[in-house]
Amino acid sequence: MDILSSLTDLRTARLSLNGTVGLVPTMGYLHEGHLSLVSRAKAENQHVIVTIFVNPTQFGANEDLSKYPRDLERDLSLLRPIGVDVVWTPTAEVMYPPGYQTWVEVEALTNPLEGAMRPGHFRGVTTVVAKLFNATQPTKAYFGQKDAQQAAVIRRMAVDLNFPLEVIICPTTREADGLAKSSRNKYLSEAERAAATVLFRSLSAAKDLYASGERDAENLRGKMKEVIASEPLANMQYVSCADYDSLQELETVTGKALLSMAVFLGKTRLIDNFVLG
Ligand code: PAF
Repeated sequence: MDILSSLTDLRTARLSLNGTVGLVPTMGYLHEGHLSLVSRAKAENQHVIVTIFVNPTQFGANEDLSKYPRDLERDLSLLRPIGVDVVWTPTAEVMYPPGYQTWVEVEALTNPLEGAMRPGHFRGVTTVVAKLFNATQPTKAYFGQKDAQQAAVIRRMAVDLNFPLEVIICPTTREADGLAKSSRNKYLSEAERAAATVLFRSLSAAKDLYASGERDAENLRGKMKEVIASEPLANMQYVSCADYDSLQELETVTGKALLSMAVFLGKTRLIDNFVLG
C-alpha cells in the first residue's frame, strides 16, 4: 500500500495502475461504514485508491474543523488488510494552493436540508470531490447513503460536468441498536450515545406509518418530530419528507421519497435518513 501526499507522487502511482480503479474519498477517522465502501470498491475494481483529507472548505465558521477527529496510523492499519493500492493524504496547500479561487457549485439540489443549515458546505464538498476525481481518475467512486443529500449532489455534479466515472451509493452501516456509523459518534457521552438511537427510532416509526398506508407527508414528519421530542437529550434541527430526486418537501408521498433529519445530542449534530418506496 503506497501512502502518498504529493500530487506528483499520486499521478505517478495512478499511471502505473492499469485497469479499473475504485475511489473512496474520506476525511479519515475511518469506521466500518468507510471500510464497507472500501471493500465494495475492492470487489468491483482491479485497484483501489482511498483519499484521506479533512476538507476545510466544507466546514462552516461555527463548525470546529480543528476538533474533527484524526488518527492516520489507525486509519492505515484498518486499510492495509483490505488490500488498498494507494492512500492519498494531500495537505491543504496541495488542494488549495495560494491564490485559490475556483469553485464547483451544484445549484437547486443544495438549497434545502443540509444546504439550508450549513451554508457553503456543499460548495466545499463538490469542489473537493471534483478535485479528487481529477487527481485520481477513478472508474467508480463510492459514497455512503447516510449523507443522502451529499450523494445526490455528487451524482448530479458528475453528470453535469461529464466526469467519465460511475458514482456508487452504498447502504448506511449501523450499530446493533440502529445508530448510523459516523466519525462524529465519538463525541457522544454515554448518555448521549444511548439517546442517539432516537434518529433510527423516529425514522423507523415514520416508515412503519408509511407501511400502514399513510401518505400525508406532514403526518410522517409529525411522527418523526413526536419521537424526537420524547427524548429529553435530543434537540431536533429539522425533519424532512422530501421527493427523492429533487429533495423538495412533499405534501403527499406518491413515489420515491427521502425521510431525513438532523438532531443535536448535546453539541454533536447527527444526521440520518431512510428511503421510502
Ligand atoms: O463524506 C465525506 O467524508 C466528505 O464529505 C467527502 C466526500 C470525503 C468530501 O470531503
